[in-house]
Amino acid sequence: MIIALEGFMGCGKSSVGRELALLTGWEAYDLDAYIVLQEGRSIADIFAKEGEADFREIETACLNELLEEYEGGDLIVALGGGTPLLNSAILKEKTCCIWLRASFETILRHVGASDPSRPLYKGDIRARLAQREPVYEATARHIIDVDGLSPATVARQILKMIQA
Ligand code: S3P
Repeated sequence: MIIALEGFMGCGKSSVGRELALLTGWEAYDLDAYIVLQEGRSIADIFAKEGEADFREIETACLNELLEEYEGGDLIVALGGGTPLLNSAILKEKTCCIWLRASFETILRHVGASDPSRPLYKGDIRARLAQREPVYEATARHIIDVDGLSPATVARQILKMIQA
């Protein structure tokens, strides 16, 4: 099974992916980290030099690579916050996509504490979140409200969901 973790920047996708990998023994990828490895440069650099549209193309190509490589096997992939924008259909078809739904307040706290230099963490974040939510909802097979939950707790909930 391929488990894809979706949600806005700062919802905990990467940390939950790591915890879930510990629980399952499955391989886990962080799509942003995979892009950085393939491209040999940072996400911020790709945004600065090529812009968002080209970043989305690279992101889509990398996602497709991973989905093809692991077709029929087990994988956990923590998506980027914007990955479902162009890839909702393929995520629905090929993965069990789980939306880690976080409130605006949680997002502000987490991103401030991790990496505030994310290229799209600027402007009207609340509006960006509101635009994304319908896409996350349409793509998700399951939704977890993650406010106040540790990544390990979220990972345990996911394990129960996929074993049910
Ligand atoms: C983005 C989120 C980032 C990264 C890029 C664009 C977005 O990933 O893919 O900066 O569009 O929300 P995280 O959600 O892991 O921060």
